[in-house]
Amino acid sequence: MNSNELRKLFLQFFAERGHVIKPSSSLIPDDATLLFTVAGMVPFKNYFLSKVPLTFTRAATSQKCIRTNDIDNVGRTRRHHTFFEMLGNFSFGDYFKEEAIKFHWEFLTEVVKIPKDRLYVTVYLEDNDAYDIWTQKMKIPADRIFRLGKDTNFWEMGTVGPCGYCSEIYYDFEGGKKDVVTGRDIETNDDRFLEVCNLVFTEFDKRADGTLGALKQKNIDTGMGLERLAAVSQGVFSNFETDLFMPMIKDVAEKAATVYGKDPKTDISLRVIADHARGVTFLIGDGVLPSNEGRGYILRRLIRRAVRHGRTLGFRETFLYKVVPVVLHMMGEAYPETAQRKDYITQIIKLEEEKFQETMDKGLEILNQEIEMLMKSKTAILPGEVAFKLYDTFGFPIEITEEILNEFSMSTDKVKFKECMETQRETAKKAWKGMSVDEHAVPEDVIKNLPVTKFTGYTGFSEDGCKVLAIVKGGKKIASAHDGDEVSILLDKTSFYGEGGGQMGDKGIITGPDVELEVIDTQKTDDRYIHRVKVIKGSVQEGNIVKTTVDMDKRSAIMKNHTGTHLLQAALRDILGSHVEQAGSYVGDDRLRFDFTHYAALSEHEVRLAEKMVNKWIQESVPVEVEVMSVEDAKNTGAMALFEEKYKGEVRVVSVGHISKELCAGTHLHNIGEIGLFKIVSSASTAAGIRRIEAITGDASYALVLENEGTIKELKTVFKTSDTNELKEKINKMLREFKELDKKVNEVKKAGMMKDVDEYIAQAKDVNGTKVITIRFTDADKEAVRALGDVLREKMKKTVIVIASTAGEKISFLAMVTDDITDKHDASKIVKRAAAICGGGGGGKKNMAEAGGKDASKIDEALLEVEKAVRG
Ligand code: SER
Repeated sequence: MNSNELRKLFLQFFAERGHVIKPSSSLIPDDATLLFTVAGMVPFKNYFLSKVPLTFTRAATSQKCIRTNDIDNVGRTRRHHTFFEMLGNFSFGDYFKEEAIKFHWEFLTEVVKIPKDRLYVTVYLEDNDAYDIWTQKMKIPADRIFRLGKDTNFWEMGTVGPCGYCSEIYYDFEGGKKDVVTGRDIETNDDRFLEVCNLVFTEFDKRADGTLGALKQKNIDTGMGLERLAAVSQGVFSNFETDLFMPMIKDVAEKAATVYGKDPKTDISLRVIADHARGVTFLIGDGVLPSNEGRGYILRRLIRRAVRHGRTLGFRETFLYKVVPVVLHMMGEAYPETAQRKDYITQIIKLEEEKFQETMDKGLEILNQEIEMLMKSKTAILPGEVAFKLYDTFGFPIEITEEILNEFSMSTDKVKFKECMETQRETAKKAWKGMSVDEHAVPEDVIKNLPVTKFTGYTGFSEDGCKVLAIVKGGKKIASAHDGDEVSILLDKTSFYGEGGGQMGDKGIITGPDVELEVIDTQKTDDRYIHRVKVIKGSVQEGNIVKTTVDMDKRSAIMKNHTGTHLLQAALRDILGSHVEQAGSYVGDDRLRFDFTHYAALSEHEVRLAEKMVNKWIQESVPVEVEVMSVEDAKNTGAMALFEEKYKGEVRVVSVGHISKELCAGTHLHNIGEIGLFKIVSSASTAAGIRRIEAITGDASYALVLENEGTIKELKTVFKTSDTNELKEKINKMLREFKELDKKVNEVKKAGMMKDVDEYIAQAKDVNGTKVITIRFTDADKEAVRALGDVLREKMKKTVIVIASTAGEKISFLAMVTDDITDKHDASKIVKRAAAICGGGGGGKKNMAEAGGKDASKIDEALLEVEKAVRG
């Protein structure tokens, strides 16, 4: 059976047994304790912990997973993978051990039709219930079931969370052999015995201190690796020989003009590439981008490791991105959301590949030289500084350096490497020092003791009757603040928006019977709004009742920019494609900045098109509607949400007619017509795969129009015209005239130099039979200097000519050696010696060379050096 069939059969089997079939969750879990989704149960963690109300008690999935604990082994064995698919069925307080066991036995033996005498079972040492179910109800002979310890038969998600005893089913590749099999064989002989599925009886919750608590209900979590199931079902020994990997292996092998199975070394590389191609495709598909930290680093490591193995296969150019369509051809049906992003994924990989290709050769060369030196000196440890240089300058993740060293039974000094990393981080941190210290921060215990602030600013700008709950200064709670003080104030309710979702915090005033406070900024921590204020008049104390009034002009400018950002995103998705996702944003009163995922720089045409589209919508005056609903409902309406943003409970869905629908907590206009003119002011790229557009709206864009108009008016006065076309013509004409004039000036300079040619010849010094001519100019044209050099060289024999000229701070040297003495003198060496005196360098050929310099006060000394050089 092919793997698409197996996946479908599994889900169908469990659907028929009352399970809700859920689509795979993202590889990025909504769980701060995990880097990636490592098992099918991860998205259901809160169901196991009874933290969410259950709307179903049975579920089944085919879940995308990534495990990164053993990347270096991937490719070297038949079974290690980074990315894999886990087929799983789950019960939340519904059925327990007996059904879980029955279901899997039935699926394996009756649907996939694996002969029973090829299967073995394990249970946890003390789990008599599971043992009895297997032996008495399922009639498994006692010599095919083993009680094993915690290492194999206790499953936990990570350091904390739901866990429990488990029972595993193993497949025997040498089934039918009449030898005696022991539990130890099962545990250790993975050439012969393959774990096909793991049934976890999830009844405990592991706490941070390592102890186990009982969960409220007994649950089931099962996992069956699709890759393994495919190997068993397709009768192949290695997962890589299944239809899940062979298409990529064949494709890459063909392009590398080799075949799989010919040479163990190239086979490893083919397997690495096939595995990593899947991993990187799905990681990027789920929103990860290459970087030097966290998930992004793992992604970078996988791309670069694959590229390095591409070298082994002989690829000199980018190749990995071309494997993406092969991956998606196989997997697109099961994971349509990833298939949709094909172009985006491809481009991101291509960019990262190109970057690494540029430096990899140099890095490999250095590493190979180091390895040779280590071999000669009979040492096996590469200095940490070298590993760091490879990382920092040539983009070699430390793990790649280690992997290469391993091939020569060498390693690196990781302690020193880490030290170098630390020093670099410290230096970077120092550069930022002073910027991150927030003296207005409100301590956590103050925050925790206050109720969540009620935000009333969606519907109005001001709010009466707000109670002062806390005043904080210098990290401490104080009772009151007075004239001139700068403090943070927390209220029970407020109309001030606290910075969040890219939207800056509101400014304005807070007034009370005896006080006026200027609000400089509003922040938000755990839904408590923190007003940073300056006491303008009077004093304020805890318990006072005050009125909040947001600066209306600023806030309406912010709302124009925020709604404008939504329109911009909609336009970009329309023009560039649905891979465009928000990667960051800033919505202020002055402008908006929108960072988004896209692989190429935007053309002028695309930028204008987006601007035009937004303005066209604005002119349609479409109303903006806001609805509050559950996250689940919001996602079902197709509202756009950020890749990694965590939305809790109720969310706001902001819709602009048919144009846009986004989950957003920001403040918006009633009608997009209020935006006025939407003007894009810049388009750039911030990181690989991320583009940035800045735009302005409302008063700001009107002000820009006025400013530009003013500039044009001024120019018209200067150029004495009232017509814009004539202005352009006049400017162009002036530029042309400037160019002409420039040429003429240079010709005059050149002529001036040439008339002195005979004088320069007459001044030639004889140095041991070679003539030396040195000349010095100020502000000379480069071409003129060159022409003079050529004339002198033509006229002279056995001569060395060096001309130094300055242009502002810059010095340039030109050295020429007549062809009859290039066997004795080298212009390149001479010019280097001269330039070195002025703190510069350069080079060229034996008969002609150029160099630069910095210190003009040493030119004469440099020219004397020429003579010394000739003297030898
Ligand atoms: N969580 C278990 C595993 O990953 C079963 O799904 O093996």
